[in-house]
Amino acid sequence: MSGAPGPRTLVTGATGFIGRSLLPALRARGERVVAGSRRPPAARRGGVPWRECDLLRPETLPRALRGVRIAYYLVHSMGGGRADYRALERQAADAFARAAAGAGVERIVYLGGPAPDGRPSEHLRSRLEVGEILRAGPVPALELRASMVVGDGSASWQIVRDLAMRLPVMILPRWLESRTRPVALEDVIAALAAAADLPLEASAWFDLPGPEVLSGREILERIAALRGRRIAALEVPLLTPRLSALWLKLVTRTEFSLARELVLGLQGDILPRDERFWSLIGRGSLLPFDEAARRALADEPHRAGLRPGLARVEEALAAWAAARNPRG
Ligand SMILES: NC(=O)c1ccc[n+]([C@@H]2O[C@H](COP(=O)([O-])OP(=O)(O)OC[C@H]3O[C@@H](n4cnc5c(N)ncnc54)[C@H](OP(=O)(O)O)[C@@H]3O)[C@@H](O)[C@H]2O)c1
Repeated sequence: MSGAPGPRTLVTGATGFIGRSLLPALRARGERVVAGSRRPPAARRGGVPWRECDLLRPETLPRALRGVRIAYYLVHSMGGGRADYRALERQAADAFARAAAGAGVERIVYLGGPAPDGRPSEHLRSRLEVGEILRAGPVPALELRASMVVGDGSASWQIVRDLAMRLPVMILPRWLESRTRPVALEDVIAALAAAADLPLEASAWFDLPGPEVLSGREILERIAALRGRRIAALEVPLLTPRLSALWLKLVTRTEFSLARELVLGLQGDILPRDERFWSLIGRGSLLPFDEAARRALADEPHRAGLRPGLARVEEALAAWAAARNPRG
């Protein structure tokens, strides 16, 4: 099948959290999918044909895009601590838009982040700029904007999950009062898959809001409650983003630069508001946060990746909660 002629769908970022789930969903719809990655061994694991695709090495793009009709853009350069990642992301988006036009791609589908009420953080600004560059290019681009995607493997989910599961007493810096609309991985994948067929006259963007508006604090409380616990809160309004990120690095599995960007992004509400896309694709009901969180917790590969000390803390807290609440 991989050698058969006919248009293909390229998923860039195929080894990432979103890409890994999108591949099987597209295949289930009968699409001829090819996985794009800088790391062939990792891409091969999905059992899908792969092509080398490095957005910062434009010479890899013509081959990656050959025969492709729909190209998914699921790449970011955040993490790794590079101060110039915003410039790199602009460069990557520009190279991709040009190469897609050269290869005759009909549509680019990009998953980005929402515009906040106030001034966007560097990370959100960069995600929005990527969308602007792709939408301004010659190939029609559909940009979908989600805030936190709830699913095992998502960096933002992992942070809140680890905080909720590991701390008997929660430090509550002010940024945890910011509100957002977390959306289930299943709903995001359905939106991305449907985005391939949606009639589109020109480039456009849509929000992908989750069904509930929740503050960071409420998210932590909901996750802890799923494990039968209540979080005792200790308010520390003056914790700086840098100290917050150090604290996150200590308690969670997130790398410092990523944690810092995510904390900076939460200085105000991040509320995708426009619900039109769900109606356009006929998705009447979205997974409630608790159900999405329950599924994400159930999907955890048996504590792989947890530091042994922290895994013991989680187990002790779970045992304590079970003893207090035997039926819970
Ligand atoms: N996770 C969330 O909660 C969330 C929320 C809203 C929006 N999004 C958006 O969803 C998209 C995917 O995010 P994710 O959470 O799946 O990220 P992720 O798990 O960190 O994966 C990022 C992917 O980017 C690829 N990549 C990085 N640099 C690249 C380059 N120079 N050339 C080609 N590929 C490169 C990596 O692939 P290789 O290393 O294999 O090359 C990796 O598969 C992003 O646009 C992000 O903004 C995510």
